[in-house]
Amino acid sequence: MAQQSLMGNIMKKGIIGVIIGAILVVFAKMTHFPFVFQVMFFMYAMLGAFVFILLDAPTMKRLEGPKAAIALVVFYVILSLVFTGGASGLPQYDPEIEKGKIDKILKRRKAMTEQGKAEVLIARVKALDERAIAIDKKLNSLGADKIEVVEEVGSVATSAGGDDILALGKEQWELQECYNCHKLGGEGGKKRGPIMDNIGSLMTPAQLREKILYPKTWMAEGFDKQYKKGKMPDKYKDLMFDEEIDVLVAFLASLKDTSVDTPKPIKMN
Ligand code: HEC
Repeated sequence: MAQQSLMGNIMKKGIIGVIIGAILVVFAKMTHFPFVFQVMFFMYAMLGAFVFILLDAPTMKRLEGPKAAIALVVFYVILSLVFTGGASGLPQYDPEIEKGKIDKILKRRKAMTEQGKAEVLIARVKALDERAIAIDKKLNSLGADKIEVVEEVGSVATSAGGDDILALGKEQWELQECYNCHKLGGEGGKKRGPIMDNIGSLMTPAQLREKILYPKTWMAEGFDKQYKKGKMPDKYKDLMFDEEIDVLVAFLASLKDTSVDTPKPIKMN
């Protein structure tokens, strides 16, 4: 009898848990929560159901002495295993890797501001130099000995070898996380955006640039729904420096694997 009502209890609350979990997942999907969160919401609903099942479960026989101690330890071991096992079953994010990505993005921006500072200093040196020359002229006209003005010109050398450009472009592909939506070389974006392996045969560098800066200017054939919803983010013109877009475009233009069916781009406006 008690056995039966326990089963009934588990069934009833289990089903309620699944229904609430499903509602949460649908809601989380509609509000664009990442997949991990959808799984987590479902797990919380099941956890809640489990607690309610426990509340109505028949009381256990009272344990005493060493038996009680052993039961307590076993209970903690099971609890720890369930928690660590469950947590490691979820996708893992390595904070060091994420930090590395952010550092890379920031490094270039920092270098740019350093360069900016250098330019200000160079301008100041030039102004001082001109004043020195003017003073020199004045002294000369007064008949003083010629004062030598020594010019020191710092040279700023920046160059990227041609071979590096594609590697830098690939780095942008990764830093800007295009792979979240686009599959390339069999890796990344499962469903949201077109596969990229042959995009270099379909779009010119200028067209690629336009698509990245203004996603609404082109639409991948067959992706009408995603295009209308504006799935491809309209943020790269704000996020990326020109030189970063240049190398990314060069990288994309080099993707010419004709064995892969990259959707045809259609000019929109
Ligand atoms: C959040 C998802 C998402 C991200 C991130 C994303 N895209 Fe897209 N992209 C799409 C979708 C969806 C389409 C197809 C609809 C369209 O054309 O707007 C698309 C289309 C394209 C196309 C046209 C492809 C074709 O076959 O016509 C190119 C090129 C492109 N994306 C490049 C990029 C680059 C480069 C990045 C990274 C800087 C990027 N995308 C980031 C979703 C994304």
